[in-house]
Amino acid sequence: MNICIIGTGYVGLTTAAVLADIGHHVTCLDNDPNKINSLQKGIITIYEPDLEDYLKRNKTRLSFTLNMKQAIEPAEVIFITVGTPSNDDGSPNLTYLFNALDELSKYMNSYKTIVIKSTVPPGTNIQCHQRLQQNGVNQELYSIVSNPEFLREGSAVYDSRNPDRIVIGKQKEDHKSISIMKSVYEGINAPFVVTSLSGAEMIKYASNAFLAAKISFINEMAQICDQYDVDVNDVAKGIGLDPRIGPHFLQAGIGYGGSCFPKDLQALEFSAKKKNIHPHLLKAVQTVNHAQSDYFLKKVKEHFPNTLCTLAALGIAFKPNTDDIRYSPAIKIMKELHEKGYTIHSYDPKATLPNELKHILQFRSPYEAMKNVNGLLILTDWDEHKNLDWKKVKQFMKGQVIIDGRNCLDPDVIKQHGFTYIGVGR
Ligand code: UGA
Repeated sequence: MNICIIGTGYVGLTTAAVLADIGHHVTCLDNDPNKINSLQKGIITIYEPDLEDYLKRNKTRLSFTLNMKQAIEPAEVIFITVGTPSNDDGSPNLTYLFNALDELSKYMNSYKTIVIKSTVPPGTNIQCHQRLQQNGVNQELYSIVSNPEFLREGSAVYDSRNPDRIVIGKQKEDHKSISIMKSVYEGINAPFVVTSLSGAEMIKYASNAFLAAKISFINEMAQICDQYDVDVNDVAKGIGLDPRIGPHFLQAGIGYGGSCFPKDLQALEFSAKKKNIHPHLLKAVQTVNHAQSDYFLKKVKEHFPNTLCTLAALGIAFKPNTDDIRYSPAIKIMKELHEKGYTIHSYDPKATLPNELKHILQFRSPYEAMKNVNGLLILTDWDEHKNLDWKKVKQFMKGQVIIDGRNCLDPDVIKQHGFTYIGVGR
């Protein structure tokens, strides 16, 4: 099939790479000349495992352009994967989505399936439909399909290639889109969940809200575990073996971050309030999450009351295997400690500190970062941090306290090397 993808962020590029790998011809469109320029030269500006490889090996079926007409006119299917960042009031900013629709409206020369993959609040896909009608696009020339994405950064390509479900939202009277979407995803083995346009939008928000709720739940448990000398990782294992609960997303730590959970929970809360629903649980999930980094900071201050000391902080990204720092709890913690007077030596295998924190030192190796420091903080659970040479760490550090904000180290191993281990609820 001839497919166009509008928006070359994480979701757009990954979708393009995977659809090209299936055998489709994919044209990626963006209005950022720098991005398109780099992509045309084979340079990817984000770090995502396997992405470069996929784009390279399918390059004969992939093209990148700024030219809307050239991308839209030959396309049978158009994916919209533009960003929907938060407005100040928590509602998502849909400007990029509507701009894309307005632009593509000009080139609707043949029947096209328009697939909205951007995360949007319930009701938005119906608005997209109305928008095209207002733009004078003949209703016979298109169908709108909602096809939310469930990939995780850091394993985006794997998740897109091996999804656990493909959710398709469509209008009742639309009898064409399911078979078209089945052809798009031919070769990908996953159950189709077919629902209404708003149903698909809700599935996406509810998925992220549920996962965030699991994290806040275990983080709250961790605080209680700390008081009763219980290891929350044992509790996660103990409850996770119950298939009704499941083992995933029960890692306590410094709270969730990233470009999705914080934004999507806010947006769902906003959508609920708009209809006079007061989502107590959604609010609590977010409150616990905000408080979790403060809880960690309290531990740091307890063990290092002298704010003139130096601490190594390993991890800048919001999670491992990505260079993404959006809403990273690691950054929030470093910023706060720096403001209190601590000297921070940071390190991350891929991410860099934002400009506002450029006065914090960032080192090129974890060992350089921990030279002569009073304490070590683990803020992102990269494998590199889990597999440090603890003998070497002992030689480099001046102090002996390690505070593991991701509960990713084995306390026994750490203690055997002569350190004091502090986790979150352990
Ligand atoms: C999340 C969802 O997992 C994806 O399914 C969804 O497609 C995506 O949002 C999106 O809406 O686009 P992502 O934000 O890439 O994916 O990352 P996650 O792996 O979900 O992690 C989010 C945050 O939760 C990270 O800060 C991570 O460190 C934290 N986390 C995760 C925990 O603190 N504990 C856990 O047990 C799991």
